[in-house]
Amino acid sequence: MSLAIITGASSGIGAEFARQLKAEGVTSFWFVARRADKMRSLGEELGVEYKIIEADLSTSEGIEAVKRALEEERPSVDYLLNCAGFGSFGAADEIGVLTIEKMIDLNVKASVLLTHICVPYMPRGSKIVMMGSGSCFTPLPYFNAYSSGKVFILHYTKSLNYELKKYGIRATCFCPGWVETEFLPKAAGENNTTRPRPSAIKPLLKCEKVVAGCIKAMKRGRAMYVTGWYTKLQHLLFKILPDFILTRLWLGMLDEPKEER
Ligand SMILES: NC(=O)c1ccc[n+]([C@@H]2O[C@H](COP(=O)([O-])OP(=O)(O)OC[C@H]3O[C@@H](n4cnc5c(N)ncnc54)[C@H](OP(=O)(O)O)[C@@H]3O)[C@@H](O)[C@H]2O)c1
Repeated sequence: MSLAIITGASSGIGAEFARQLKAEGVTSFWFVARRADKMRSLGEELGVEYKIIEADLSTSEGIEAVKRALEEERPSVDYLLNCAGFGSFGAADEIGVLTIEKMIDLNVKASVLLTHICVPYMPRGSKIVMMGSGSCFTPLPYFNAYSSGKVFILHYTKSLNYELKKYGIRATCFCPGWVETEFLPKAAGENNTTRPRPSAIKPLLKCEKVVAGCIKAMKRGRAMYVTGWYTKLQHLLFKILPDFILTRLWLGMLDEPKEER
């Protein structure tokens, strides 16, 4: 029997990891997110043994709920997939301090804390996926807290691998370009005016394809997995071009703010 804990399992990349890990022979899942009904449907669709932890991971109570479940059941955790996350396009004064705080608490703090909480339950050979992004490779004004958080995750994952070597555990930072999930419509919001033009959000990658690639990279023990031709190019250019050129390219993809401030 093998167990995968997946945060953000109610949608998109997290749910797709569940589907593909089942095909890889994982028999038991813990799904963690806020929408229990979606996670229940996923468990029933897969016909696997599953546990639902309904938790807002941007809060201490949410993290505590996972910690408590681990202390009670003391399971052997073969995979930890830190997929819960969200983004919000817009200037800091447009998206607001509370949204920025929640984004950092979920995308960064929760991923780090859950990793540390889970590692003592992970046997040798087990795997961790941390969600980075193509936005790790360019300073992105108007997507700042999100993209800067992903840079943190990339560096964190690379460093973590050194510390986990003695336990035989390996972490992969997954850096896809734009993927077709609920993420982008939510990140664009209804009121945020400074966001990429729809024509700039291309190519849109298929969730199935990027997750399949990440599973291969994870099995090979890669510290980072970059996918999507545009993101691979971005990663390459990041190494050879000054930041300001890449940032200008990004700014050229944004809608003009509709109102002067
Ligand atoms: N889609 C892309 O273009 C893209 C590209 C690069 C990286 N990523 C990263 O990939 C990860 C997964 O995103 P996705 O594309 O699969 O988006 P998604 O379809 O919107 O899924 C996000 C998941 O995070 C969960 N979540 C959001 N807020 C939460 C909270 N406060 N507490 C617990 N769970 C929460 C959501 O569940 P509930 O709403 O039920 O809580 C959902 O399951 C994110 O870290 C994102 O940054 C996405």
